[in-house]
Amino acid sequence: MGTSRNPGMLAVTAGVALAVLFALLGVTGVLDARIGFGMAVIALVVSALIYIFYSRADAVEKTGYGALLFIIAIAFIIPLLIVNQQQAQATQASAQYQLTLQRGAALFATYCASCHGFQGNGKAGPKLNNNDSVNKLTTNDLSRIISAGVPNPDDLTKFSMPAWSEAFGGPLTDDDIAYLVALIRSSDPQYRATNNLGDVNGFSYVLGTLTDPTQIAQYEEDKKGGSKPPLTQFTDLSTLTTVHMDAEDAATTSTANWGWVAQEATSGQTSDIIVKAGTTIIFGNKSSAPHNVFSGNGTPDGKFGDPNIIPANSTQTFTVTLTAPGEYPFYCGIHPAMVGWITVVP
Ligand code: HEC
Repeated sequence: MGTSRNPGMLAVTAGVALAVLFALLGVTGVLDARIGFGMAVIALVVSALIYIFYSRADAVEKTGYGALLFIIAIAFIIPLLIVNQQQAQATQASAQYQLTLQRGAALFATYCASCHGFQGNGKAGPKLNNNDSVNKLTTNDLSRIISAGVPNPDDLTKFSMPAWSEAFGGPLTDDDIAYLVALIRSSDPQYRATNNLGDVNGFSYVLGTLTDPTQIAQYEEDKKGGSKPPLTQFTDLSTLTTVHMDAEDAATTSTANWGWVAQEATSGQTSDIIVKAGTTIIFGNKSSAPHNVFSGNGTPDGKFGDPNIIPANSTQTFTVTLTAPGEYPFYCGIHPAMVGWITVVP
């Protein structure tokens, strides 16, 4: 009986196993689905031909099937070449994208960091590194704002931010603007996810572009959150049950164009106050720009805050009652240089 056994059976078993493997790779996305299924079909056909080859006794027939087998086996190479090509293209695209971000980071350090901070966390200009309201802008709007600048709403002959594109008398080319837009976009995790851009926030390349030691020192300074101001800087408002903390233009409490000012403090402007547990803090906005407020030292710590914007010069407020004694630094999410500190005592 052993002699009647077709050795091609072994090939069929192997072919089916390979076909299942390729189909699985296709389904799970390890291989492109079309390539996975293509390879599976080829594996089945080749193993079937091997089986037929062994089942023929006639030499001419055997030669015919042998030739066919050879041709189909060679077909295996085609999907492999396609995979290779696709991978090469993907690698090139990702290297290209990385270069774009690095160029954006270098331009940002040179032209934008003085107002927006080396990490894009905001100074005189707003936060650009993963700022909700900037993330909501379309790419076109973002390029337009950077190209043409932002006119000062109080005096249209002046700019809150200058125009950057050559077309508007600035120093940057359209390519430069595109690099900067890509950099800012890359700081939005959701944008990265929807566009399959991996996990790199381009602002992480900024440090690598700096050579000047004073710039590097400034970069480190921009990166760390502020520490608690000296006690002498605090105003004791612990006799009050309600304190109004309003954003004001040209406040001395901030390096930005706007700062928080405790309205009940009588000697000079301050955003650093001591209050009793149970005091209600009402955050308002008397300034010419929109603001919001979060507790935390540069990043929200979740104790209080509201991403909703309090419009410029409005009567809208954000109110919180601080019942637990402790330290409550706070800042504006759009202009993180607008900081303040509330110490709550029992
Ligand atoms: C001289 C300071 C200054 C420099 C330098 C500067 N900006 Fe600005 N930028 C501002 C200010 C101030 C605003 C806010 C204007 C407003 O809305 O009142 C702003 C706003 C923006 C906005 C809009 C943000 C938003 O919330 O809508 C973007 C985007 C921006 N800047 C990008 C850049 C880029 C990119 C560079 C570098 C090429 C740059 N800025 C350089 C001061 C500056």
